[in-house]
Order: sequence, then C-alpha cells, then structure tokens
Amino acid sequence: MHKQQQTSAINSLRIRRPDDWHVHLRDDDMLQMVAHYTAHQFGRAIIMPNLAPPITTAAAAIEYRKRIMSALPANSRFKPLMTCYLTDNIDPKEVENGFKEEVFTACKLYPANATTNSAHGVSDVRTIYPVIEAMQRIGMPLLIHGEVTDCDVDIFDREAVFIERTLSVLVDDFPELKIIFEHITTKDAVNFVTESGTLIAATITPHHLRINRSDMFKGGIKPHLYCLPIAKREAHRTALRKAAISGSPKFFLGTDSAPHVIAAKETSCGCAGIFNAPYAIESYALTFDEENALDKLEGFASIHGPNFYGLPLNEDYILIERGENKVPEHIISGDINIIPFHNSEDISWVYKCAT
Ligand code: DOR
Ligand code: ZN
Repeated sequence: MHKQQQTSAINSLRIRRPDDWHVHLRDDDMLQMVAHYTAHQFGRAIIMPNLAPPITTAAAAIEYRKRIMSALPANSRFKPLMTCYLTDNIDPKEVENGFKEEVFTACKLYPANATTNSAHGVSDVRTIYPVIEAMQRIGMPLLIHGEVTDCDVDIFDREAVFIERTLSVLVDDFPELKIIFEHITTKDAVNFVTESGTLIAATITPHHLRINRSDMFKGGIKPHLYCLPIAKREAHRTALRKAAISGSPKFFLGTDSAPHVIAAKETSCGCAGIFNAPYAIESYALTFDEENALDKLEGFASIHGPNFYGLPLNEDYILIERGENKVPEHIISGDINIIPFHNSEDISWVYKCAT
C-alpha cells in the first residue's frame, strides 16, 4: 500500500455524519457480525441485493430490511436503503411499485456472472430496457457494476470496455436516467463521469484509493486484496484520488465492504471482496490527509451522495481525530473469522461517535 507524506496540520475533523452508498451486509450470521460496523459510522447505506437468492421483490426487500434492523441495537438510527437486483425477467411493475412505496431506493445492474452472486444478473442490458424506461420516468437511480464479462476481454480492461460497449450507449438511450457508476477503478471511468451530464455520478471505495494491482502480488499473492473490479495500475489509482478530492459533486463515498470468511478467500478459487467497514471512514481520512485535502472529506463522504439521490443531509455530526489506531489482524465472531482491510496497520485516524 502506498503511504504518502502527510502534510496537514489538522488533528481533528468534525463532519456531518457520512453515508455509505454501496455496502454488502450479507445475511444470517455474517449479517449479525458485520451490520453494526456500518451502522456505527454511517447514517444510511445503500444495501447490495446480491444475496442467494437475490432480492428481486419489494416483499423480499422488506424482510431483508427487518433482518438488518434486528441485527442492530433496538435504538439504532441507521437507515438501510434497499435495492432491487435486476434480472432478465424482472417485472417493471414490481420495480416501480417498490420505488413508489419507498421500499426500493434504487436498482442494481450486475452484468450476468460479473462477480459474487451475479449469476442471475442481466445477460444483455437491452433485455431490460422496459424496466430502465420506467426507472427514468419515475426518477429511480440505476446502480451499475460496470464490467463486461466476456472472457476474451482482459480482466484489467473490463471496466474501460464496459464504458465503450454498454455505458455510453445506455447514457445516450436514456438521457434523463440517474446513473451511479459504482466502485470505479480507472481513469477512463473518472473521465467518463466527469465529462457526462449532471445525472451521472460514481462511488469510490477506500481500497481503490490505496492499492494498485502490484499490491496484490507484493511478496506473494494477497487474496485479501482481491476484489472486483480488480485494482488497476498506479496511474488509475492516482486518477481516482484526484477525483475523490476534487470537490466535484459527481464523486462520493461507497465502501463496497464485502466480507468473506478466511476460508473462502485463502483457497484455490478465492472469492472477490474486501471487508473495510470497521475502519472505513478512518481509511478515507488517511487518504484525504495524505492528499492534504481533509477539507474535501465532508463533501465526498456526507454531502455529494444525498444531494445526488435527492435525500436530506444527515443532521448529526461525527468526529475524526488523528491518533494511533492499530487495525486487528483478524476480526472474529463465533465461527466467523475475517481479515479486514488495513489489517495490522496503524491507520493514524480514530473515529469518534457523534458530538
Ligand atoms: O469484490 C467484490 N465483492 N465485488 C463485487 O462486485 C461483489 C462483492 C461481493 O459480494 O463479495
Ligand atoms: Zn459491491
């Protein structure tokens, strides 16, 4: 991972409570274990629907939302924002009613087989044009995992090729559609979003701001740094950092925290996903500090997201202070053992609860 000289003299930062615009909370025991980390730091979070089976109906989303809230203390003020997983057979009425009834905040487009639990995803985006048409009409945002899935496209090129083959066509065909290009990893994506109209935005993860593709192989293979979209070359990481600290309302926080147990990561065919929820805001603070841009953190973490979604800003505040903060090597609960992002590092910033 790439440490840069810290130049700022700021030792403490009070910002509006941030939101996480992309997180995997899972289900069952894993949900019980991880939900509180996200709820501790963030006011709201966009909850990914890639369960097995995926969340494709409003009824399933309501049940899942209940399970999330049951995994948290009774007085939790955390608000899960539910999403609908788009499939080739999704019913536009289900999507539209779910949005109107305020169950669904957005829909998630996974190209079929792009990543974990995406086998039911969309085979060709044109198949779901009637749903997208309805979403555009009612102002419902489309969240996109932007990678092509063709094996003939190099894994490091899949995001750039997706922009060329799919995203640019979608933007042209639906000029009034709100799109969030999720967890962007390339300068191509930064440029595309920057040059598009105000209805196109992107989320950036803590890990893509810190690791490049070489980090996955430094001193041996590092399965806990494997995620999708995969980390790219250093020039891309630099472009992501520049976008995150730019102050542009088009770029905002989305952790893509995606926990998998050690056994699923350290194996001959390991899962993609990085668990960063326990130290998410500290990780972003460290990066913004290294870029001497702590004054831009609140916009990125707490303001651009709600503004893009048309939601109110959180009214409470959090405190982040400079100080020693050693991330544990493992996070364990019962039988579940996960290696978190930044494991065994001193992350130099400490999150404090509301003030
Ligand atoms: O690394 C990832 N993990 N990328 C995704 O898109 C899915 C996620 C997961 O669910 O594990
Ligand atoms: Zn994700």
